[in-house]
Amino acid sequence: MTIFRTARGMRDFLPEGAKMMKYIEGKARRVAQLYGYKEIITPVVESYELLAAKAGEEVRSRMYAFKDLGGRKVALRPEFTASVARLVATTLRNEPKPLRLFCVGSLYRYDEPQKGRFREFWQSNYELMGSSKPEGDAEIIMLTNSLMKSVGLKNCVFKVGHVGVLRGILSQENVEEQVQNEIMQLMDKKQYEATLKLVEDAGTSKCLATLKKLMETKGSKVSQILKTMEQQVEGYERAVDAVGNLREILKLVSETGEKIDMIVEAGFARGLEYYTGMIFEVYVPEMDISLGGGGRYDRLIELFGGEPTPAVGVAHGIDRIMMAMQKQKTSLRIEEEKRVMIIPVKEELNREALKISRMLREAGIPVEIEVMGRKMSKALEDADRRNIDYAIIVGEKELKNGAVVIRNLRKREQKTVKIENIIETIKGNKL
Ligand code: HAM
Repeated sequence: MTIFRTARGMRDFLPEGAKMMKYIEGKARRVAQLYGYKEIITPVVESYELLAAKAGEEVRSRMYAFKDLGGRKVALRPEFTASVARLVATTLRNEPKPLRLFCVGSLYRYDEPQKGRFREFWQSNYELMGSSKPEGDAEIIMLTNSLMKSVGLKNCVFKVGHVGVLRGILSQENVEEQVQNEIMQLMDKKQYEATLKLVEDAGTSKCLATLKKLMETKGSKVSQILKTMEQQVEGYERAVDAVGNLREILKLVSETGEKIDMIVEAGFARGLEYYTGMIFEVYVPEMDISLGGGGRYDRLIELFGGEPTPAVGVAHGIDRIMMAMQKQKTSLRIEEEKRVMIIPVKEELNREALKISRMLREAGIPVEIEVMGRKMSKALEDADRRNIDYAIIVGEKELKNGAVVIRNLRKREQKTVKIENIIETIKGNKL
C-alpha cells in the first residue's frame, strides 16, 4: 500500500503551528488597519507572463509554471507585487491615489528546501501606490517595524540600500539594462568577483574602482556611511541623487522618534528586478535569512499598461517570523476562552446533552460533546488531557431537577447547577 506524504518542500501545519501562523496573520492585518491599508484577495494562479515580467532570474527560474487545460501558460504566484500592480494598471486604474493595499496568503517558489526556505510559504504584503515621496518609503519601513514589535520580536535590524546607486553608475556607463540585471543578481548573491568581471566584460572598467569601494561600504553609523557613499559616487549624478533620497528617507524614519537599528549597505541588491529606489530587508540576530523585504518600484505599473504610478511596498515571511518567534521564545498574547466538554452519563441522555451544547454555543461558549460513547472516567481523563476547562456531566438524577453537574477540571471541584444557570456559572467563573 502506498503511504502518502506531503509533496517535497510542502508542509502540514498542525493545530499549534496553524494557531501561530494565524496569530501572526492577525497581527499583520491589524498593522494594515493601523496604517490604512485595505485588504484585497488576488488569485493564486496568474498568467506566467505577468509574474515573470520583472521577477528576476532567481525567482523566475523557480516558478511553478504550467499550461492549464486550455493551453494557457500560467503559474502559481511567487509573490504578490505583480498581482497588485496588475490591478492598479487595470481595474483600479482610475482610483484616487494614494492607494494602500494589503494582502496575505500563500506563495510558491521551487526553492531547494532548507532552513526557512519553503516551496509553499506565506506573506503579509503591503503596497503603497501613487506616492514618489520619501514619506512613502519611510511608512513602509515603519510599518514593518510595527509588525515585528507587535508579534514581540526583539533586536530587529534593518539592512537598507538604494538600487539607484549601482544602477545610476551603470546607466551612466551605458551598461544595457539586461546586463545591469545580471549584475544586480550577482550582487544579490554577494558574488562580488563575478560582478566585477561582468562589469569589465561589458566594457566599462572606468567604474570598477568605484564599485569595489561601494561593495565595502556598509555599517550602522548611518550618516557617516551615507557621507562616504556620496563621496564615492561623485561624478555619477543619478547615484548622488539616490544617496540623497536614501538620506531623506532615513532622516524621516529617525524623526519619528522610533529607535530602529539600521545597517546601510552601499552594494546591497535584491533579486527582484522591478526595484528603482530604496530597498531593505529585516533580520533578527538569531537567523541569517530575512524576515521581510521590500522597496520602491516606480515603473512596474506603467510596464503593465497602467498610468505611470510610483510605488513602494514590502512583504513579510509569516513562516520565518514564526521561526524567529520560536527562537526568541516569544509567547503568544492570546486570551484563551474557557472550553467546555459535555458528557452524558448514558446514551439516552444524548438529546439533553445536545440541547445544552446548543444553548452554550449560542451564548458564545466553545463546547465539545462526547462522541465516542466512553465511560465517564475515560471521557473525563480525555477532557483533562486536552486541557478542557469544564466538564458538564448530564445525569438522570440531576436532570429530573432541571440541573447538571459542572466540574472544574483544573481545580477538580464540582457542583450541581440548574440548566438556566450554566452560562452564568461558566462566564462568571463561579466555580
Ligand atoms: P522577497 O524578498 O522575495 O520580496 O520576499 C519577502 C519575504 O518573503 C522574505 O523576506 C522572506 O521572509 C519570505 N520568503 C521569500 N521566499 C521564501 C521561501 N522560499 N520560504 C519562506 N519564506 C520566503 C517579495 O516577495 C516582494 N514582492 C516584496 C515587495 C513587496 N517589494 C515591494 N512590494
